[in-house]
Amino acid sequence: MSVPDHRSSVTVTLKRGRKSRGGAVSTMDHLMLITMVLAICSTFSVNGERSLQLVNVLYRHGDRTPVDIYPSDPHKADTWPEGLGQLTTHGMNMHYELGQWLRERYMKSGFLNETYNRDALHVRSTDKDRTLMSAESDLSGLYPPKGNQIWNNGLTWMPIPVHTIPLDQDYLLKTNGPPCPRYDELKKETTTTKEYLAVQERYKDFLKNLTINTGFKEPLTVSDVYLVEDPLFVERLHGFRWPDWANVTGFYKDLKTVSDKGMYFLFNSKDKSRLKGGPLLGEIIENMRNKSETKDPMDLRRKFYMYSAHDTTVAALLSALGIYNGIQPPLASCVIVELWKEDDGENTVNILFRNDTTKAPYPLVNKNCKASCPLGNFTMLTKDMVPEDIKAACGITSPFLSNNISIIILISIVIGLLVVTILTLIGVLICRCRQSKIRHVRLQSDDTKA
Ligand SMILES: *[C@@H]1O[C@H](CO)[C@@H](O)[C@H](O)[C@H]1NC(C)=O
Ligand SMILES: *[C@@H]1O[C@H](CO)[C@@H](O)[C@H](O)[C@H]1NC(C)=O
Repeated sequence: MSVPDHRSSVTVTLKRGRKSRGGAVSTMDHLMLITMVLAICSTFSVNGERSLQLVNVLYRHGDRTPVDIYPSDPHKADTWPEGLGQLTTHGMNMHYELGQWLRERYMKSGFLNETYNRDALHVRSTDKDRTLMSAESDLSGLYPPKGNQIWNNGLTWMPIPVHTIPLDQDYLLKTNGPPCPRYDELKKETTTTKEYLAVQERYKDFLKNLTINTGFKEPLTVSDVYLVEDPLFVERLHGFRWPDWANVTGFYKDLKTVSDKGMYFLFNSKDKSRLKGGPLLGEIIENMRNKSETKDPMDLRRKFYMYSAHDTTVAALLSALGIYNGIQPPLASCVIVELWKEDDGENTVNILFRNDTTKAPYPLVNKNCKASCPLGNFTMLTKDMVPEDIKAACGITSPFLSNNISIIILISIVIGLLVVTILTLIGVLICRCRQSKIRHVRLQSDDTKA
């Protein structure tokens, strides 16, 4: 990214802005355009001719009530009238803000049409109230109805479909939803690794005291410290008082560190992040491949894929990409995977992480590819991380029957065995024939003897 690059792109875009509006651009518009262009330029280097093709967005739901409280929690479940694990009005606003931010980013530049069009956008959420509601809040910021889409003058909202599938089948977005015995094995193995044991050992006393203070029957470990971190974090955010043992300098910092470690250990190997982040990574690559290769008018009209899910989904995807920072993805944080066409026609991928609303999104770059990674390289680099058949990879269906080559091998073996069996049978029959002849002769001779 270099300064002259920025300047040239600002000029080019301004010229374009003027052209498309027939020369009638006010100073206000100019200012807005400059701000917008600068905002885009600050995240990655753009050159006047590269054009955005497709956007994939994965976000975590917004602020919610605690998923669970700890046994000695003074703030019982009935503290939360929405129920546990439910999106709060603050959470709705977080996503409304993200939706507006996406609108600013992608509509001002003319990439998305301000008018909602079902062909341009596909939204999928996990089948949880908080993610479904987050998606809806987000969409109300992204697509307020325009023109003849306004159906009720009292509402600047229109319904937009959010698709989902049952949690126990959602290998794409719900990391702890559907069964995956292979992952469970790997997760168990993790707790015996040096790296894990070192953290567990370092925070031994901290965890011991935490177990006593929170009233858990089983000793808390690095893996389940989130059971305390989550309710405390939410309670503080909502202005509730912490018990005295938690109101100690340095306590929350340690709690957060161990809790982040717990999330890190969920996906800290290729095998684990492949099983949990691989399916979504595969889908996003497929979205981009379709967009860049297909002549199918449907794929050509598609511009935006939106996925509404959880902190673990974000961590798993970033881990599979080798760019996870080890910090629990914040509420309403958002990973953006953009497909661009460069001026020389090359398709490139840019990844951004909006994890702080006060800052421009962070460009995330895998160490093996540059910031605008050519789609071909990106696909090659991540090939190992995308399971061909997730159920087989999880050890649910036999991996042997899951692809064509295996079936061909299997059929060959069966035919081979059949041939061997038939040959053996023929062999046995011939032998029997000879033997019976001999026996016959012998019998005769016996007869003669007798
Ligand atoms: C945006 O959508 C509206 C309504 O479908 C359409 O009339 C208009 O031409 C579109 N604008 C662009 C730039 O595609
Ligand atoms: C956001 O992500 C960046 C890049 O990984 C990281 O440096 C930063 O600490 C993160 N901020 C938060 C609030 O998680």
